[in-house]
Amino acid sequence: EIRDVREHLRAERFAAAKEGRELQVGFVPTMGYLHEGHASLLRSARMDNDLVVLSIFVNPIQFGPNEDFDRYPRDRDKDMALAKREGVDIVFLPSVDEMYPQPTKTKVHVAELTDHLCGAARPGHFDGVTTVVSKLLNIVAPDRAYFGQKDAQQVAVITQMVQDLNMDVEIVPCPIVREEDGLALSSRNVYLSPEQRQASLVISRSLRLAEQMAREKESATAGDIASELVRSIEAEPTAVIDYADIRRFPSLESVPSSMRVKDADGKLLIAAAVKFGATRLIDNVILTME
Ligand code: PAJ
Repeated sequence: EIRDVREHLRAERFAAAKEGRELQVGFVPTMGYLHEGHASLLRSARMDNDLVVLSIFVNPIQFGPNEDFDRYPRDRDKDMALAKREGVDIVFLPSVDEMYPQPTKTKVHVAELTDHLCGAARPGHFDGVTTVVSKLLNIVAPDRAYFGQKDAQQVAVITQMVQDLNMDVEIVPCPIVREEDGLALSSRNVYLSPEQRQASLVISRSLRLAEQMAREKESATAGDIASELVRSIEAEPTAVIDYADIRRFPSLESVPSSMRVKDADGKLLIAAAVKFGATRLIDNVILTME
């Protein structure tokens, strides 16, 4: 319960203060069905902090009406075993009723950054994310919160929110963890049939190809790279592209398609969302130009 988590954290902070220490709290918010991507966030949190808090909450308000909220995979026992293995101190498992006592009237909206990529494809999704993350940050009040670059737009949106609302927390981005064959780990990978699992490799392969083109071909424009990415993904006949795009990171501003990527200063995000049957997968690479 929210009260218990707050009380537990208050007691830990008090005990540390009595010894003249300030307790550093690291927080990893998740929707559960934990895998090595989540574990890598927990490990970073474990390294940097005295206390690690993990939340597991499948947040209904970040799912669209035709999305997979009801069938989102859940495995409480396996999650608890992973949390234990990674040395998590507090697992916060709120219920929907506790997080959203009716009626709730407040939502957090980050403008512009949420208009593109997953924001365009999933209306309202990021309002659900920023609202729940604000609530969780208010409950846990961590020093640091850890997010995976697998959801690069989520990192950009939450970093902006924390700045805009003067939230006293450091957002720590963590690298994408992949299967050996390249597929980015995701709780949604369990939905894939063996054939779809094989076909899904086209995403990471195509992103690698786009990245290689950007690095090696002096004259490559943003448009060239975007077309190469689309062409490469479409070579897999069962892949249905939701978006395949190249943008500045973390502003998510568009880049002119005639711009040579070598001339871009700062970071570029190459990102794709691709459907295999009913399963939608996302992945990305970030290019640092200098
Ligand atoms: P979820 O999809 O469970 O992801 C929780 C965290 O794990 C996110 O920060 C995500 O980016 C990270 N993550 C997932 N797969 C990863 C991978 N392969 N490598 C590295 N990190 C990975 O993202 C959410 O939940 C929700 O939107 C949430 C932030 C919890 C709000 O409800």
